[in-house]
Amino acid sequence: MKAIIPAAGLGSRFYPVAKSVPKEMLPVGGKPAIQLIVEEALAAGAGEVIIVTSPQKPSIMQYFTPDPAWRARVEGKAEAVRALDELDRVSKSVRFVFQHEQLGLGHAVLQAAPACAGEKEPVLVLLGDALVKSDAPCARGLVEVSRAFGNASVVGLERVPPERVSRYGIAGGTPVRENLLRLDRLVEKPPPDAAPSDLAVAGRYVLDPRVFACLSACAAGHGGEIQLTDAIQRMLEGGAPVYGCRYPGTRFDIGNPDGYREVVLAYR
Ligand code: G1P
Repeated sequence: MKAIIPAAGLGSRFYPVAKSVPKEMLPVGGKPAIQLIVEEALAAGAGEVIIVTSPQKPSIMQYFTPDPAWRARVEGKAEAVRALDELDRVSKSVRFVFQHEQLGLGHAVLQAAPACAGEKEPVLVLLGDALVKSDAPCARGLVEVSRAFGNASVVGLERVPPERVSRYGIAGGTPVRENLLRLDRLVEKPPPDAAPSDLAVAGRYVLDPRVFACLSACAAGHGGEIQLTDAIQRMLEGGAPVYGCRYPGTRFDIGNPDGYREVVLAYR
């Protein structure tokens, strides 16, 4: 299974730090946030993790590129060698593609399409600015639901207060069992009175590879950007089953300084 981590955003809420340290590289419990997300993807069974990044954020690539010179520098320092070994093990599964223009989340995911060509299995998408703290890795739970429903698409959901629905992709559907819906509609950032529910798309997706064709066919949507939500809605319209699963655990939005402060406290 392939996993995609979109991490090409400019991180403007972290300026000026983001000029040299991308938000995904900010430390959380001793590792950059994005390493925790790569580890979540691997724990879910991903064999390859494709990070979509931008040439303006070279430190993410540098971090995941094994380099013997770094090992030589810490010769004899057991803890540093162990940390490097662990990172190098993870890095073997990581590759990179660039998003050269910031045209939206859907456009970022589409940049990974050539790297996923010929995939029959669903692909995992884990947003690079969302960390999920949970006893069982979040993505693994969603992959299990996908398998149980014949490799269907599954979108991770969380309940949000009505006044915040316009900040998220919002799902409508029919309950299948506790915490699981069969979706019939997804809308990106609807006004509260047009939202199909209070269930928000929350940073983790297991997607039928047909999503790439749907993304290619999507025009700019909300905010003038190519939206992943619109491509999933297109899959629904084409008759592909999509489930929505409220996952256990807490999602942290590390894309802004307040969210980052919370995550640092939670992962102490
Ligand atoms: C993105 C998605 C949105 C989703 C949100 C949180 O929005 O477009 O559907 O609800 O992430 O996972 P963004 O936060 O990038 O504006």
